[in-house]
Amino acid sequence: MSQTKTWWKEGIVYQIYPRSFNDTTGNGIGDLRGIIEKLDYIASLGVTIIWLNPVYDSPNDDNGYDIRDYRKIMAEFGTMEDFDELLSGMKERGLRLIMDLVVNHCSDEHKWFKESRSSRDNAYRDYFHWWPAEKGTPPKRWSYFDVEENAWKYDEQTDAYYLHYFAVKQPDLKWENPAVRKEVYDMMHFWFKKGVDGFRMDVIPFISKDTSYPEINATEPHEYIAYYANGPKVHEYLNELNTEVISKYDAFTVGEGPGIAIEQALDFVHEDRKEMDMFFHFDLMSLDRAPGEVFKMREGGYSLVEFKKVFSDWDAAFQKAGWGSLFLANHDFPRSVSRWGNDSPEHWKNSATLLHTFLLTMRGTPYFYQGDEIGMTNVCFTDIEDYRDINTINRYKTVQNRGGDLEAFMQSEQHAARENARTPMQWDASANAGFTSATPWIKVNPDYENGVNVEAQLKSKHSVLSYFKDITALRQAHPALVYGDYECIRPEHERVYCYTRTQEDQRFLILLNFSNEVERFSLPLSISYNRKVKLISNDKILDDKTFKEFLLRPWQAIVYKLEN
Ligand code: GLC
Repeated sequence: MSQTKTWWKEGIVYQIYPRSFNDTTGNGIGDLRGIIEKLDYIASLGVTIIWLNPVYDSPNDDNGYDIRDYRKIMAEFGTMEDFDELLSGMKERGLRLIMDLVVNHCSDEHKWFKESRSSRDNAYRDYFHWWPAEKGTPPKRWSYFDVEENAWKYDEQTDAYYLHYFAVKQPDLKWENPAVRKEVYDMMHFWFKKGVDGFRMDVIPFISKDTSYPEINATEPHEYIAYYANGPKVHEYLNELNTEVISKYDAFTVGEGPGIAIEQALDFVHEDRKEMDMFFHFDLMSLDRAPGEVFKMREGGYSLVEFKKVFSDWDAAFQKAGWGSLFLANHDFPRSVSRWGNDSPEHWKNSATLLHTFLLTMRGTPYFYQGDEIGMTNVCFTDIEDYRDINTINRYKTVQNRGGDLEAFMQSEQHAARENARTPMQWDASANAGFTSATPWIKVNPDYENGVNVEAQLKSKHSVLSYFKDITALRQAHPALVYGDYECIRPEHERVYCYTRTQEDQRFLILLNFSNEVERFSLPLSISYNRKVKLISNDKILDDKTFKEFLLRPWQAIVYKLEN
């Protein structure tokens, strides 16, 4: 990987989903003042950058990913004054802020779209993708959140179809129109002038489209996604965005990268190309999906060997240039400990802390999602009435309309649904986990009563939260854990993930037992050292007295420093 040192490579990101973070107004919805109230807590975690999910004015068809006004704060979340106060509170504590940039699409309630749909010769007509009905039915495009899975919506007013890769209320913006691009860049300058430090760019590879809208050779969703991510001008637009905006600030961008294959990675993040700084690839997120499915999990979970391969391959992709991002969860995926660990009472704590150890000892910028630091788990709703997410609700309707197996669908959603990540942050053991004094917009996970809450964990030195702080401090203290070379040891081992991180004379050995059993693990001959010093472990060491042999407890994680 590129060894040019920057604050965003050394940073540790904490993602906040404001709707579910902390409610101070008593309306059951989190707000900006709720984040302000918790800034000392966030800073105490040892994280350095906050990524804020969309806080802009929105009718909330997709919880803020459908923006009505890019320069206004969502009324439920507060005001622009609150935002300014939040940002200055972050700066005071040395925290940087990245905002969500949602510009593949906006809301159908945005002024641009209201104008655009009003007549074929409106000045904003060409801000969106329209297909006149007299040309017949447009060539098929798959949609993520549409009940019919159809990305073209017929609009009577002008007798034409508009394109929406996501929900009907999220029309895609037409980047081919330079006026649209200029609007986006101006808006980004507006936020940079306030002092933000960068953007997480929502589905950014989708922005370029072939506006002749040809028939495409795709039937499965993932084939459409790969096509969407490879529009003819995606690199040109990203380079322009960088030149016009990002390059003018001490800032970074991280793209959401569905559809970007590993072979293309450097085309997006090679420093010389000046497009974006890093992106979230989707290889890990699809590892435990059923074949050909975008949302459904496969039986039997994931294999550790495949898991290691994803991380090793992506590390290798950035060996000489570019930079990677590391994440195990976010607001679109189930909870990390429930998905990659084991959230049963016996293994919950070790597996949550093992996953923290993993992200914080890998190369790349690590991203944590709110609640990870206390080991929040999947809520596993069983009743469709409990879901608020357009994704689950609309796909439920799709299955229903097609006479499909609703029971199987609900079963699958328990583990796959995005709302596993969106239940309120668990602050204490009082009603609603201290998130709100009202009825929360979505149900709280009842496990807040069993120690999965901040207050309880602050009191114990041995909590998931305490460990999280220790391991963020460990990473901050050792730049070799950020920049050092990564080598996977015994990649074929099915239960233990072992690797070294090396930079000059600094060398670390990381051992992670991804299993429910005690494991004996021995290092191959190729690893040589004279002495090892334990830096951290999430459990008591069972036995590491024999040279190069280790006995690991279930889900135990250990970091050693190796000395010659
Ligand atoms: C991204 C967001 C997701 C949203 C979608 C449409 O995938 O992370 O939450 O629903 O884009 O904007």
